[in-house]
Amino acid sequence: MDKEHILRSAESFAREELGKDSSGHDWWHIYRVTKTADAIAQAEGADLFVCELAAWLHDIADEKLNDNHRTGLEKVRRWLVAQQADESVTEHVMEIISTMSFKGGHQPPMRTLEGKVVQDADRLDALGAIGIARTFAYSGAKQQLIHDPELPPRTEMTADEYRSGRSTAINHFYEKLLKLKDLMNTDHGKKIAADRQEFMEQFLSRFYSEWDFTISAER
Ligand code: ADP
Ligand code: NI
Repeated sequence: MDKEHILRSAESFAREELGKDSSGHDWWHIYRVTKTADAIAQAEGADLFVCELAAWLHDIADEKLNDNHRTGLEKVRRWLVAQQADESVTEHVMEIISTMSFKGGHQPPMRTLEGKVVQDADRLDALGAIGIARTFAYSGAKQQLIHDPELPPRTEMTADEYRSGRSTAINHFYEKLLKLKDLMNTDHGKKIAADRQEFMEQFLSRFYSEWDFTISAER
């Protein structure tokens, strides 16, 4: 198994599959998650090859970009087999990418250190300035409003409701983003998440103060 060759091929595969997406899942998201996964893996002593490979491949099977999650996963598995990756690596990477998504917060914890690392890297990219930018990009792609004071955030929701129910970009902070800090797996991930959380809280407080200013100026 030629690890370097597999990693370069995985990078090209991700670029081909996700290069054109503009809903916040684009190639540069994959690139950032892979670099962050590398950094966390080094800090935590995880297997760098498995973390980097899973990070390159983690969104290729996304249900938003395939007929369904299962056919997306089959595509990734066929690709790994064609690369002649060791069976243990294929199984480990498949386990990571099939279980790491947030899905409204209903998933059990990741089983392996490598899974925890890649999930943390993906979650960190949903936080901070980049996380804010991605939320508004995704919302625009889904025709969601920026904010609607008459549509409160949902507190209890199934995975289906999380994915398809009506909401807003600002609500997404309460429905997912602000919950992520306490769901981080690794010490290194927790530290970065705390800093990004603080920035999102500042953003929200500024957002509301500008919002109220506009309303009162109109009256
Ligand atoms: P998940 O973690 O559930 O798989 P994704 O990773 O597919 O979600 O989400 C892609 C990006 O879009 C993330 O930055 C995420 O926070 C954002 N996003 C997901 N769902 C929404 C939504 N309903 N409204 C706004 N942004 C969203
Ligand atoms: Ni992702």
